Amino acid sequence: MRCVASRLHQLGELQNRVLIFLEGLCVTTVPLIRAGFAELLPKPELVHIRDVIYQAAGIFHPDNKLRLLLDGCGRRMSELRIASLQEYCDCLTVKSNRQEELVALLNEITIGETSFFRNQQQLDAFKSIVLPRIIQAKSPLPIRQLRIWSAGCSTGEEPYTLRMLLLEEAGPQLGGWNTEILATDLNQRSLAHAHEGIYGSHSTRNLAAIYRSKYFTPLGDKLQVNAQARSNVNFGRLNLSDDSRMTFMKNMDAIFCCNVLIYFDLASKRRVIQHFFNTLLPHGYLFLGRSESLYGVNDEFRLVHLPGATAYVRGDRPLTGGKLR
Ligand SMILES: C[S@@+](CC[C@H](N)C(=O)[O-])C[C@H]1O[C@@H](n2cnc3c(N)ncnc32)[C@H](O)[C@@H]1O
Repeated sequence: MRCVASRLHQLGELQNRVLIFLEGLCVTTVPLIRAGFAELLPKPELVHIRDVIYQAAGIFHPDNKLRLLLDGCGRRMSELRIASLQEYCDCLTVKSNRQEELVALLNEITIGETSFFRNQQQLDAFKSIVLPRIIQAKSPLPIRQLRIWSAGCSTGEEPYTLRMLLLEEAGPQLGGWNTEILATDLNQRSLAHAHEGIYGSHSTRNLAAIYRSKYFTPLGDKLQVNAQARSNVNFGRLNLSDDSRMTFMKNMDAIFCCNVLIYFDLASKRRVIQHFFNTLLPHGYLFLGRSESLYGVNDEFRLVHLPGATAYVRGDRPLTGGKLR
């Protein structure tokens, strides 16, 4: 082994194995531990914590993202003045307040990057194509109600954007309609921020002047969402991996779940998407983030191409003269 090792050209890691390259060719693989790289293996306590997070929230940290999880655990450990990862693992798994600690750790490790009007093309397609279709589909019904769900709303920029869009651009179309935007997230801290509704320059960088002046109040160098933009936006904590609570979500006309499922593995994505399928009304639309797709995840939803954006509709919906595509 030493003789081979001395002529190594390259080392790479593949599922806790070392790839041994000789003259550019991979000649064999050896477990990290046997190759003397035991310190590179994730600590068993960290792997256990990864499993706990995955079971609880569907979020999976592959080996190359374990650093993020370790950093989050580190922040909780200093808060709790705990010195060892094993002790912290016990806090999450055996101590009586383990559920609260799990919520606290989830607050630390979820990634909440967002901003107002984050995906303008998607919003344009929603406003000019999808919304009129939904209104048309629902117009024969006696109750004029529109329900939109921002699933994984982070600090609130997405649902407030949707609210402002409805107020500003869809006012005439929605006269006499009762509109509700339900905004949910796993992260309690993000939801508290969303309730407060105060945002700095990073979040508001894409806000057009009309929205700034009409729907915000200046607060020092920040902006606070005003009462009009808050109206009918309801925030709540919901874990998308909580199957029992997800089955209660019903009758949505549109779901925006953007940049959330990228942190999930295939199995947990499939479960969440199946819930979305059951939650959407027959004419409903599902929007994902720019880089996300349901390819290989679900074949009951059908991809719809809109100008500059895509969305998904329930595949059992009859085609209306090919108009949907
Ligand atoms: C990157 S942000 C996306 C925010 C917004 N949708 C957007 O596109 O701008 C991802 C959000 O998903 C939330 N999230 C992650 N896992 C979740 C889960 N299991 N249930 C609910 N929300 C979750 C995180 O807390 C975070 O706020």
